Amino acid sequence: MRVSADSSTEKKIDLSKMPLPLPGSSENAPLNATEIIDQMDAFHRHKMMICDELEAIADSLPFEIDPAQCMALARSLKATVSSIQAFEERYFFPLVARAGKLKGVMKTVRDVLEQNHREDEGFAEELAEALVDLGLCVSGRDAETTGYMLRGFFEGMRRHVALERHLLLEPLRAHLSHPPQ
Ligand SMILES: [Fe+2]
Repeated sequence: MRVSADSSTEKKIDLSKMPLPLPGSSENAPLNATEIIDQMDAFHRHKMMICDELEAIADSLPFEIDPAQCMALARSLKATVSSIQAFEERYFFPLVARAGKLKGVMKTVRDVLEQNHREDEGFAEELAEALVDLGLCVSGRDAETTGYMLRGFFEGMRRHVALERHLLLEPLRAHLSHPPQ
């Protein structure tokens, strides 16, 4: 399963408009299950937009890259990925863990997804450096190497989001819509 950004996201991402911090929520405000699920859905779509942007850069290598696009992504990539993943681990995973029949699958899935998170944070930092080099036109990497880095990151992130949605988000939404009697 692949989650696609909708057609309105075909334009370049304005990461300054990313929904962080949570709209209308202070740091200590409790979030209900629907708010958490809706926010996760928005974050997944945002991650898919980032993937689309990175794929566009990979496709434009080596001669047609947009330096401004590279710099914009480089500035926000690590913080964006870290913030989204922190939300998932603070709000979403505990919500799943409390959800009845999903408890059984949670431990294994959560371990895998959290390991993915740590890897993605490290990878995002490396990728941000590569994007800065591209943006400044000083990259010492060849296009094949940079393309490999970009594709490794966005393909992994798409798989991660698909897994999270298929195994957790959609079953959780169904569970909350039809709680056991
Ligand atoms: Fe995740």
